[in-house]
Amino acid sequence: MTDHKITIAIDGFSSTGKSTVAKQLAKELSYVYVDTGAMYRAITLYAMRKGFITKDSFDTDSLIKDLPNLNLKFAFEAARGFAAIYLNDENIEDEVRTLEVSQYVSRVAAVSEVRAKLVSQQQLMGLEKGVVMDGRDIGTVVFPNAELKIFMTATAEERAKRRFKEMKQKGQEVSYDEVLKNVEERDHLDTTREDSPLVKAEDAIEIDNSSLSLDEQFNTLLNISNEVIAKQ
Ligand code: DC
Repeated sequence: MTDHKITIAIDGFSSTGKSTVAKQLAKELSYVYVDTGAMYRAITLYAMRKGFITKDSFDTDSLIKDLPNLNLKFAFEAARGFAAIYLNDENIEDEVRTLEVSQYVSRVAAVSEVRAKLVSQQQLMGLEKGVVMDGRDIGTVVFPNAELKIFMTATAEERAKRRFKEMKQKGQEVSYDEVLKNVEERDHLDTTREDSPLVKAEDAIEIDNSSLSLDEQFNTLLNISNEVIAKQ
């Protein structure tokens, strides 16, 4: 293996388990891991708290006006073993994972001003390479020149099953049908929005992980990464 660091962009549908395997990969390679979904979730939580977004309304103008007051950062947390997301110095890692935030986040992520703010922050975070970044537009918009692009897919049912299990384990009161509905709605919104819709980059390697164990996914990704790194 050479010392050359690369940029690894991992995109795909919600709940494909991207972040679990991306985190593991970053740790193995001693790279920085960035969960860009957490950043969109953080802005969504802010909009919910301020009352800018509800079930029936979305005051995008007020959110856009407030964007300069919104400071997002990641800080490593030993207890979790990864970096947690902070909104204006408050650790909101648990709060951004609720079904309520998941239900609103695709609407917030469709706002161009929100995307512009986050994309430039993400580009700065990856300036030095040696980064594994996961999201929806990393290989297409944030780092179109990434040396390695992965596109993860799995059936909606399989993804809902995984998300449901995860939420139950955290003690969240949800039904499988609610989770499946949310996964399908987000797929629709994420792939049909005007600004940076979720699409597979032409040069991305597609991995359908519906029937792959976590170990299999990790080993597949690690092998591909090492091959690309060795060629630098
Ligand atoms: O990966 P996730 O489920 O935590 O992402 C939450 C939402 O944020 C997802 O529905 C779409 C949006 N998102 C995005 O539009 N662009 C990204 N780079 C990451 C997430």
